[in-house]
Amino acid sequence: MKCDWIKIRNDFPITKKYSYLDNAAISPIPIPVYIEACKFYKNLMDHGGKIWTKYIKVKEETRKRYAEFIGSNDSEIAFTHSTSEGMNIISHMLSNKGIVILNGLEFPASNLPWINNNPKNVRFVKCRDNNRIELEDIVDLIYDLESKVDDNNIVKTIVTSHVQFSTGYRIDLDKLSNFTKQKKIFLVINSTQSLGSLYFNVKEQGVDFAATNGHKWMLSSFGIGAIYINKKYLDEYQLKPSFFSHFGQKQIDNYENNKQIEMSDNATRFEIGTPHFQNIISLNAAVKYLSNIGIKNIEHRILQLTDYIIEKLESLNFEIISPIKNKNQRSGIIVFRSKKLHPLTIVKKLENENVIVSQRGKGIRISPHFYNSEEDLDKLILLLEKL
Ligand SMILES: Cc1ncc(COP(=O)(O)O)c(C=O)c1O
Repeated sequence: MKCDWIKIRNDFPITKKYSYLDNAAISPIPIPVYIEACKFYKNLMDHGGKIWTKYIKVKEETRKRYAEFIGSNDSEIAFTHSTSEGMNIISHMLSNKGIVILNGLEFPASNLPWINNNPKNVRFVKCRDNNRIELEDIVDLIYDLESKVDDNNIVKTIVTSHVQFSTGYRIDLDKLSNFTKQKKIFLVINSTQSLGSLYFNVKEQGVDFAATNGHKWMLSSFGIGAIYINKKYLDEYQLKPSFFSHFGQKQIDNYENNKQIEMSDNATRFEIGTPHFQNIISLNAAVKYLSNIGIKNIEHRILQLTDYIIEKLESLNFEIISPIKNKNQRSGIIVFRSKKLHPLTIVKKLENENVIVSQRGKGIRISPHFYNSEEDLDKLILLLEKL
């Protein structure tokens, strides 16, 4: 399908004022998401608790829509408030099962829950050039651990982002999951920086567990996230939540039973307390919006924009920190460095001209979404030239 990107841009009023190139931090919501969120509050204002049944249904509709978006079954999805919450849930289930491989490029939300739960089981894989980890690096570490012939060295879990927040490095999930399947290792993916921007399909790409949030590429605003847990593991390993509420019961409306756990047989067992409907509704509207455009179209457009900016940055002699040689490792994130100026100085100067980017580590991170245009990037380049 051919997309009319100019028309789509009109769904984002932010584009009238800003060249907003910071979607890896927080993205603006499009008009259709805003409308649905407003409708919810209006309904709550006008009808109070009478809206309950309607929104319980919307919650399940959202679960279906979201599951389809990531290629899973709805029984494998639980709503959370954030990636951190999701990663905590997953780490509670897996951190005592064996060694967990983490890496030093991750956002803290990927790593800290595992370190908190069982620091003795954590090992770090080395990064190459401080910007990527290759499958070979993980394989080498695992064989090295296995050679120590000790039951305590059996690797059970690999945790990594699909796309790294600090470099934009995209790992090859197909290759990685082929390996984890052979070795019977759980593959846990932080999909925060890919979902909504790049193709991400848990079944096709062999992901066992995934955690994400809604306020970045997913265009859904704050306080919403989701986890995916392959049903096979829910059943076979009897994976249990470490926090439990009656919302995890088979019958949530049975208030008489406050003595006996009858855990739901799907991922809803991980949902705690009264649902945050307003955020689930935003996710529903956003997934509908993204699905209408099509994730493959979105990915294609974003990579067009990042390819465009890479060429311009190279011509200006900026040092690009992101690994860009292998095109398959590119994503919606490009990080670069100036040899002369501190990144924060540049970020502030750009902000004064309504060009919004972020500092990450020693670099400046640009993260265009599909609603951005080449003109947004030209404005950035023009200002960088002047610096
Ligand atoms: C890869 C990654 N994971 C997680 C987060 C944040 O997660 P949370 O929803 O827990 O705030 C970020 C960014 O802020 C991120 O870049």
